[in-house]
Amino acid sequence: MTAPIESVLQEQRLFAPPPHFAQTAHIKSMAEYQELYARAQADPAKFWEELASQELHWFDRWHTTLDWQPPQVQWFAGGKINISYNCLDRHLSTWRRNKAALIWEGEPGDSRTYTYAQLHREVCLFANVLKQLGVKKGDVVGIYMPMLPEAVIAMLACARIGAPHSVVFGGFSGEALRERLNDGRAKVVVTADGGWRKDAIVPLKEQVDAALPQVPTVENVLVVQRTGQRIPMEPGRDHWWHDLKQSVSADCPPEPMDAEDILFILYTSGSTGKPKGVVHTTGGYNLYTHITTKWVFDLQDTDVYWCTADVGWITGHSYIVYGPLSNGATTLIYEGAPRPSNPGCMWQIIEKYGVNIFYTAPTAIRSFIKQGEHLPKSYDLSSLRLLGTVGEPINPEAWMWYYRIIGQERCPIVDTWWQTETGGIMISALPGAIPTKPGSATLPFPGIIADVVDLEGNPVGENEGGYLVIKHPWPSMMRTVYNDPDRFRRSYWEHIPPKEGQYFYFAGDGARRDKDGYFWVMGRVDDVINVAGHRLGTMEIESALVSHPAVAEAAVVGRPDEIKGEEICAFVILEGFQTGSEELAQELKQHVAKEIGAIARPAEIRFTDALPKTRSGKIMRRLLRSLAAKQEITSDTSTLEDRSVLDRLREGI
Ligand code: PRX
Repeated sequence: MTAPIESVLQEQRLFAPPPHFAQTAHIKSMAEYQELYARAQADPAKFWEELASQELHWFDRWHTTLDWQPPQVQWFAGGKINISYNCLDRHLSTWRRNKAALIWEGEPGDSRTYTYAQLHREVCLFANVLKQLGVKKGDVVGIYMPMLPEAVIAMLACARIGAPHSVVFGGFSGEALRERLNDGRAKVVVTADGGWRKDAIVPLKEQVDAALPQVPTVENVLVVQRTGQRIPMEPGRDHWWHDLKQSVSADCPPEPMDAEDILFILYTSGSTGKPKGVVHTTGGYNLYTHITTKWVFDLQDTDVYWCTADVGWITGHSYIVYGPLSNGATTLIYEGAPRPSNPGCMWQIIEKYGVNIFYTAPTAIRSFIKQGEHLPKSYDLSSLRLLGTVGEPINPEAWMWYYRIIGQERCPIVDTWWQTETGGIMISALPGAIPTKPGSATLPFPGIIADVVDLEGNPVGENEGGYLVIKHPWPSMMRTVYNDPDRFRRSYWEHIPPKEGQYFYFAGDGARRDKDGYFWVMGRVDDVINVAGHRLGTMEIESALVSHPAVAEAAVVGRPDEIKGEEICAFVILEGFQTGSEELAQELKQHVAKEIGAIARPAEIRFTDALPKTRSGKIMRRLLRSLAAKQEITSDTSTLEDRSVLDRLREGI
């Protein structure tokens, strides 16, 4: 947090929105964007209030648009709304009734399409099954699913009856699932026997069975059958979705929710302690994800839209499910991933469904580059009209490849900066209006007052590095950390202390602004590692390592990786007089994968007898980062307690 941020990137290329794109876009020119931005800045509450009335259905109007008592915020207090109504019911009385809402492609090549009417029916059935299992408004439902239509259906069903969902990424282990279910005191878990990924079955129910003996609050498990492999079903606790579905009606009126009722909890990593349960509420989240989907992706009614994220992450929540469906879009999901048996599957799907908008992550783009141009070039990608990226800064060369090879120099690219905590896209081009520069997320969305400041909250100069902050509340901001309001305040509002009534939301990124006011996000400045666009806290991985009986102390850092952006390097001190071995290193890697999930598996374990610490005992991670990346240590080492540690660590390389 205190290390100076140096900015080195100098990118001069500028890509204007193609005229044919701008002509039909929702926001057609820079002037139009600037006018919207100025209007929102002058009176944010009025700006959001008008959009809330125009874009969403409310059962009852709110009495207070914005109630801001930092860091507590309420948007549209008193308003009654249901996001599943906005995503489904309201389209049924329009021509969209029989439009494809959800297209699903399974990894083995099977597929399903749900129209809005069909999706509505499935959601109502699912909601009634949840009710039958005793789920009431306010009860937390854990969702631990592969990428199946039922994952989306379960989320919407929870929203319909006012049960906050807590989706846990299917790649997390039973241990990680247990921790999250316990924190949320979940009452029911929705899962599947398994799912297909890279030609293998991911055995989800097995992980649920491992987790549940230590989750006393869960009374029932609802299991979707996907793979058909034999799994144990515990009588009284486990139920097949296809069985219970037979006994309920398809009539389930949406629960009128207060705008500030919790819609979901989603866990994310911070720099300290266990994962944080980020809380999002209903009305503001519905509005913000709706309008950002419409303007950033320039969604048109004829578009087939594909976001490749997993529903277990915020991108899946906001830009697979709620944003697109609220707009009446056709949203596509894919169960699997590129794999040796079908390396071109992404391009095959674009060709098969005529995908128009494709939203993915830089790590995926880098792995496509590695696969070679011949793959995308052997499919028809001419349906594409817009590309998007999210998850980490995109290196300009990857941007250019995406632009040339996938977009065929025809499609604008929206590089969207945001976070689990922000709920929706904060900084991004609007593709018909804002010229893009490879590597820059460009300009803030109307209503978002973003800045780059120093630790006192003073704006830094042009092209100077600083802390990326947001200076005014927005509708989809996180409301709190579940059950821990104090952590919410400490984590986001105190790094840069309030000044003269001005509060600064800061969640870990460094950035600079160039002469045109464009934002260049430079990555995390805290102890969060971004592996393939997934946020991992160093503390979590260190705790997992220390939970192994052989380990006395551990410190993990990220180091650059060509495909994943960063990978994990762990420095480990063993108990007693044990010495490290390749075998033990493998065992520790496996142990972390079991405790957290394969995404957290360290790429390298380095055994050591000491760690570089300050006199107050704080591990100096920046030194470890340099060592891990095999770089010279040029930064200040004067606060180091024992300087010989560094020499010993270096010798170990
Ligand atoms: O460091 C930023 C990076 O991802 C972090 C948020 O991670 P998460 O909450 O998991 O959400 C990811 C999907 C929204 C940010 O603090 N990040 C995300 N998008 C970008 C980015 N960094 C640079 N450019 C982006 N477009």
